Amino acid sequence: MTTKVVHSEDPLEHWNDITNLQDKRVLDLGCGWLFQPFLSTPEYFLSRGASLVVGVDVSCGEIEKLKENYPDHIFICREISEVQDITALLHVYQPQVIKMDIEGFESLVDQMNAQDFVSVEEIAVEYHNPVCKEILERRLPEFGFEIFALNQFGWFCTDTNIMGILHAKRSA
Ligand SMILES: C[S@@+](CC[C@H](N)C(=O)[O-])C[C@H]1O[C@@H](n2cnc3c(N)ncnc32)[C@H](O)[C@@H]1O
Repeated sequence: MTTKVVHSEDPLEHWNDITNLQDKRVLDLGCGWLFQPFLSTPEYFLSRGASLVVGVDVSCGEIEKLKENYPDHIFICREISEVQDITALLHVYQPQVIKMDIEGFESLVDQMNAQDFVSVEEIAVEYHNPVCKEILERRLPEFGFEIFALNQFGWFCTDTNIMGILHAKRSA
């Protein structure tokens, strides 16, 4: 297990522990925040070779912008609030990589099962409270993933038991 201090929300730093995006289908849950002075996460994943980005965000204006900018990819305006909101996307798009930043709704992983993740090789989650962290640490190994990094937000919350970025990939 590695750890590091992440100093910004810039995906070049925030999400660069995702190991392999080349030719991967990526499910980007919480893909918005386009007003920031750095790459959007869809743009970042495409720059690292992703073959398809399926982005979901509750901010419909940002989804429209992403559809305009990346017409070959899929952007959906939806609030993720129930487990079916995630499982339906997994079953339809069969992503190999998941990035999740949905402000506490990562707790829905507790209601999922190994079969839901059958296509997934790697998952990166910004978790927002200790309950979410406990759920991810318990459930992802049950689904066949190994947690390989727990990173802290240097500018905001230095206690990884409260908030942080967790990375997991399929156990060898
Ligand atoms: C901190 S920003 C993420 C910025 C950047 N895309 C990233 O992943 O680092 C969180 C984004 O997730 C969206 N969001 C938060 N909760 C959500 C939910 N439950 N369902 C869908 N989108 C959500 C917000 O509108 C916002 O655009």
